[in-house]
Amino acid sequence: MSKYSRRGLLAGSAATAAAFAQSSAAKPKNIVISSANGLICCQRAMQILQSGGDTLDAVVQGVTLVENDPADDSVGYGGLPNEEGVVELDASVMHGPTRRAGSVAGVQNIKNVAKLAKTVMEQTHHIMLVAEGARRFAKAMGFPEENLLTEKSRLAWMVWKQSLRDPQGNSNWNGGRNAAKPNIAQLRKAFPDATEELLAYAWDRAIHPPTGTINCLALNAKGEMSGTTTTSGLAWKIPGRIGDSPIIGAGLYLDQDVGGAGSTGLGEENIRVCGAHTIVENMRRGMSPKDACLDVLKRISRNYNDDKSRMTFNINFYALRKDGAYGAATLFGEGGKLPQFAVNDGANGPQSRLEDTAVLYTR
Ligand code: GLY
Repeated sequence: MSKYSRRGLLAGSAATAAAFAQSSAAKPKNIVISSANGLICCQRAMQILQSGGDTLDAVVQGVTLVENDPADDSVGYGGLPNEEGVVELDASVMHGPTRRAGSVAGVQNIKNVAKLAKTVMEQTHHIMLVAEGARRFAKAMGFPEENLLTEKSRLAWMVWKQSLRDPQGNSNWNGGRNAAKPNIAQLRKAFPDATEELLAYAWDRAIHPPTGTINCLALNAKGEMSGTTTTSGLAWKIPGRIGDSPIIGAGLYLDQDVGGAGSTGLGEENIRVCGAHTIVENMRRGMSPKDACLDVLKRISRNYNDDKSRMTFNINFYALRKDGAYGAATLFGEGGKLPQFAVNDGANGPQSRLEDTAVLYTR
């Protein structure tokens, strides 16, 4: 006889469903969570919640601050470009009260793509617009067009190009045939106007292409929820590559009856496990937000037969339940440090705080 009898399974699912029903009966409160790059985002979103604003307005206005910030090279203006040096942005939104969604992908020259995804949701009967169509829609809706490549991100892109070699070790981009891969000393000669700090940054980004992003989830005191995810995607990607962020169910998912979830990190891994949707369904069946996130990380690990040496990437999940419980988890804690995420529940005045995520593995 199976170790897991049908009666046992039914009793277990009844217990977890009861636990969820009990937890979801708790009085809702204003709370915003995001990836670690969202301290200011959560603060802005909380201001909007406290002044009675809509949860989707709150998260979109929050991430807009990050999209506008050239110092964040994973989102919006100043995001690292594709392999041709062109910034292409992806974003999605979900609005709990109306149960609607919008998304855009592969958008060039439009900075505020979370707002653009919200505009797709509000002004069309579609859910997803991509590339040139999304850009033309943005123009029609009055979004300004601008070059999103900063001098800093252009330099990082040039350094990445100079680091490439064909199988014989040759490169068209520096020093001719058989030239050694660039090092910081050579970069100093090639880019004499760049500061040491900028060169070190560009070198690091060339060697470790980032997959940052911002995900933000909000709950208000009426129990309404919304979420958004916005990104410039994987640095140096093939033009047209779309990550998980604009995919409803992967980079973002929210069910007003249960809660929301989102992701940052290497999107391809998330798409294969429908991460955000799986987390929400885990919470529906009674898992805590943290355990729901860890379960999805285990599914990603399973795709590599749990062989850590093959998992040469990292990925994070964030979850907020409709009773205000929240959590986050990361595949790898690295270098003895726990990864973090941002929280604003009003407990620190207007300030957001960072909390540690759970980790599945360390390295
Ligand atoms: N998670 C962002 C991306 O992979 O595009």
